[in-house]
Amino acid sequence: MVKKTEDYIIEMENVSFSFGNLPVLDRVFFQVRRGEFLGLLGPNGSGKTTLIKCILGLVRPDEGTVRIFGKAPWDLNDDRHRIGYVPQLISVDLTFPLRAKEAVLMGRYARIGMLRRPKGSDREAARIAMERVGIADLADRPLARLSGGQRQRVFLARALANEPEILFLDEPTTSVDPTTTESFYELLGGLHREGMTIILVSHDVGVVASHVDGVACLNRGLVGHGRPEEVLGSEEMARMYGCDAVVFHHGRLPHIVVKRNDHGDS
Ligand SMILES: Nc1ncnc2c1ncn2[C@@H]1O[C@H](COP(=O)(O)OP(=O)(O)O)[C@@H](O)[C@H]1O
Ligand SMILES: [Mg+2]
Repeated sequence: MVKKTEDYIIEMENVSFSFGNLPVLDRVFFQVRRGEFLGLLGPNGSGKTTLIKCILGLVRPDEGTVRIFGKAPWDLNDDRHRIGYVPQLISVDLTFPLRAKEAVLMGRYARIGMLRRPKGSDREAARIAMERVGIADLADRPLARLSGGQRQRVFLARALANEPEILFLDEPTTSVDPTTTESFYELLGGLHREGMTIILVSHDVGVVASHVDGVACLNRGLVGHGRPEEVLGSEEMARMYGCDAVVFHHGRLPHIVVKRNDHGDS
């Protein structure tokens, strides 16, 4: 339940963050409206994961403010289940005989609480999530016996099992073949059309561009925003910024500025 009417589901203002002496985020302004499908792009080390972690409250910025659902991320408490998160690196112990449906059920822990037993409604939510991503028939299969693409859908179902309003996916298609990647993005497109707000982190500019209708390419300041063909088609953009950090924006009113302070490596 939304407690008040808000234009933005995520608001980041003037956020800066450094790992020790390494500036990673520099005066970032970032806003996401409900229902948007946004691709956050850039190569390794450009701060994408850190930005997502700031929004999730896993990293606390040195400066600036972050709000999600109108609250500071570290004050989310019961609202945490409104967020689905597929982290970049999910370490899976494949020697542990965890079945797909059990992995998906773990997504319910934000609602269940670690110490309580899952109820029928939790199992039902997990089942619906698996059905939604097309892996219902794999429910009893151990994770070790799934392909990379199938496992990726398990992690998506795990995030969806919480019935979130917003979905974060950090490089979800790494080490998956192009056909599988494409069908995964089509699945995300379907979720988006059903109203899900999606933030997709990727370094794969070309593939993601074909699934969004807005883009901003940024690095060391604002590079530009607009439709993908406008922004990415610009030679000047490519030459000047090399799409080092890119934000794609799908929605009526793109307004994103992501700056990265790069002193030290130029
Ligand atoms: N825990 C950490 N300690 C120190 N430096 C880190 C840590 N995590 C990430 N970094 C550094 O911060 C920068 C941004 O990292 P990250 O947000 O993971 O980038 P991306 O997701 O775009 O690859 C990189 O230079 C990375 O080496
Ligand atoms: Mg990353």
